Amino acid sequence: MNSYVTKKAGKYWPSKVMKKMAWVNSEKIYKDAAKNPVKFWGKLAQEGLTWEKPWESKNTYVQKLPYFWWFKGGKLNFCVNALDRHLDKNKTALIWVPEPVKEKIIKLTYRQLYDKVNKFANVLKKLGVKKGDRVAIYLPLIPEALISMLACTRIGAIHTVVFSAFSAEALKARIIDGDVRVLISADGYYRRGKKEDLSKKVSQAIKGTKIKKVVMVRRLSKKKNYSGKFTSFDKEVEKADSFCKPETMNSEDPLFILYTSGTTGKPKGVVHDTGGYATQAYYTTKWNFNLHEDDVMWCTADIGWITGHTYAFYGPLLTGNTTLIYEGAPDFPNPSRWWKIIEQNKVTVFYTAPTVIRMYMRFGDKYINKYKLKSLRILGTVGEPIDKEAWGWYFKKIGKSRCPILDTWWQTETGGTLINTLPGIGPFVPTIAGKSFPGTKHVILNKDKKQTKGKEVGFLVQLSPFAPGMLHGVWNNHKKYVETYWKKFKNKYDTSDGAYLDKGLIRITGRTDDVMKVAGHRLSTAELENAIDNHPSVNESAVVPVPDKIKGEIPIAFVVLEKGKPSQELEKQLKKQVDKEIGPTARPSKVFFVRNLPKTRSGKIMRRILKSILKQEEPKGVSTLVNPDSVEEIKKIVSQK
Ligand code: WTA
Repeated sequence: MNSYVTKKAGKYWPSKVMKKMAWVNSEKIYKDAAKNPVKFWGKLAQEGLTWEKPWESKNTYVQKLPYFWWFKGGKLNFCVNALDRHLDKNKTALIWVPEPVKEKIIKLTYRQLYDKVNKFANVLKKLGVKKGDRVAIYLPLIPEALISMLACTRIGAIHTVVFSAFSAEALKARIIDGDVRVLISADGYYRRGKKEDLSKKVSQAIKGTKIKKVVMVRRLSKKKNYSGKFTSFDKEVEKADSFCKPETMNSEDPLFILYTSGTTGKPKGVVHDTGGYATQAYYTTKWNFNLHEDDVMWCTADIGWITGHTYAFYGPLLTGNTTLIYEGAPDFPNPSRWWKIIEQNKVTVFYTAPTVIRMYMRFGDKYINKYKLKSLRILGTVGEPIDKEAWGWYFKKIGKSRCPILDTWWQTETGGTLINTLPGIGPFVPTIAGKSFPGTKHVILNKDKKQTKGKEVGFLVQLSPFAPGMLHGVWNNHKKYVETYWKKFKNKYDTSDGAYLDKGLIRITGRTDDVMKVAGHRLSTAELENAIDNHPSVNESAVVPVPDKIKGEIPIAFVVLEKGKPSQELEKQLKKQVDKEIGPTARPSKVFFVRNLPKTRSGKIMRRILKSILKQEEPKGVSTLVNPDSVEEIKKIVSQK
């Protein structure tokens, strides 16, 4: 059996086979791209995508910070790039694995997907959706999610996908911020063998919004009939014409909005544009995952997150490959499910999050040992730092010591991966992300904004020209865009991540702001605090993440009551409050009721001190607090629980 890695001087490198099959296999690419990144990306965009009209070469990259545009004036349609140009190949575009084991796996060829997308694009038009309008998509991982997203891109509508496990309130907030009129959802989905209802959440969410129409996929019951604002996805598609002319879009037109958590309570709508995003999605998919004709890529992320957008759907379609998605839970009906799916469908590229790897490690090796997973060639991880132990397990147990692991660093804002090792170049080093993707540049700065020396941890920033997939502002909020990304470092994009250099390779240490990664999901402490503070008994609260063996981090809440007494019942209510306003993903695992939160003279809550107390470390900077006594009290409460 082929091995795609080889060990040299204690490190893993691509084997000869891997080098031979890799699209990029020489270090030279980094130097060549760095000489003229704009020209480099310009050439790639021209070669990789299908344009209706090219851009003038002086407009390959136009920068007027904090904004910048790629391929300005170039015209294209995203859906044409993802579908139309692959129609001749008679190839499977999508493999969908439903959670119920008895249900049939569905495979759609590019032609079949194209037909469905065209029809649904016509449905959207009939419902009044026009170029530039926002369409909200609140769907589980089912084929209709992909069909809906692509249909939007065909007619130039801007989709905004909302994670299906988010609450009605969370959906509503996004509908209002995006000024959305049409929502696509489903009656529900399967999770661990149970039917999860979405209908109720949808009805609740649209109250008080400007939603005119809701298209519902009948996933759980084909019998349900819809009327009024509601209509059924399949019935509408049945009636629709089979061809929809793709809208001609400018490269810099928005393609989608994806809401993500920052340091404030309100999620922000990250805007991605068309040509730049498509270029980065295309090349990062092709070069990182080294996709060729026979590849089947499985990115396990949900479409509610950027990883689902770029690597479960758009990347592998732009490159004309086959992508697999699975509706359900990794441990249903037992913890062999994923490995079975890989064997059944001959998955070659597998991309997941460290949190799930750690979960599988805990299930025990017996669920994996009998699977040979011969089809696998490349493994990837994303979303949070991966520790040595999880890396080793992934490498040995899943990759059977044959496959490279790409630890890919990126963000909702970057659209595609930015720092990782390329499979044909190496080395693959546990816990190290690697180098900036060719044609992009990151540096690590210390507090004085100078480049760090040795292994000093500093702030990771990106330099101009900014990568083509980078966000194009925050929806309806210029101020937030400037404050979040461009204020701290002049003319440099602030990633809000910490990092250090290890022999020229980048190691990510984690967020430097109040953003948590809980089981790979991005959440902000402020969002949780807002939710908790909305409970009538609460005066104020502080949420901090603490390390967790499986989930990476979990949120812990400290609550000061306005009225009532601490009780288990109240703790339950507060957790429910978070479920209601954000979703169970964000539920704090513990609530400590305290009399005071540690604050500075200016009233800032010192979450750092709370973190230290939870870690049983001696908190620093207590003397700068207005209420140093609070620390002793909190220490006591924490130690008693
Ligand atoms: C973190 C996910 C370490 C990081 C694509 C970043 C990582 C945040 C890695 C973005 C990695 C992502 N190693 N940390 N390989 N990949 N992160 O927007 O803190 O959900 O800022 O995008 O995840 O999370 P987001």
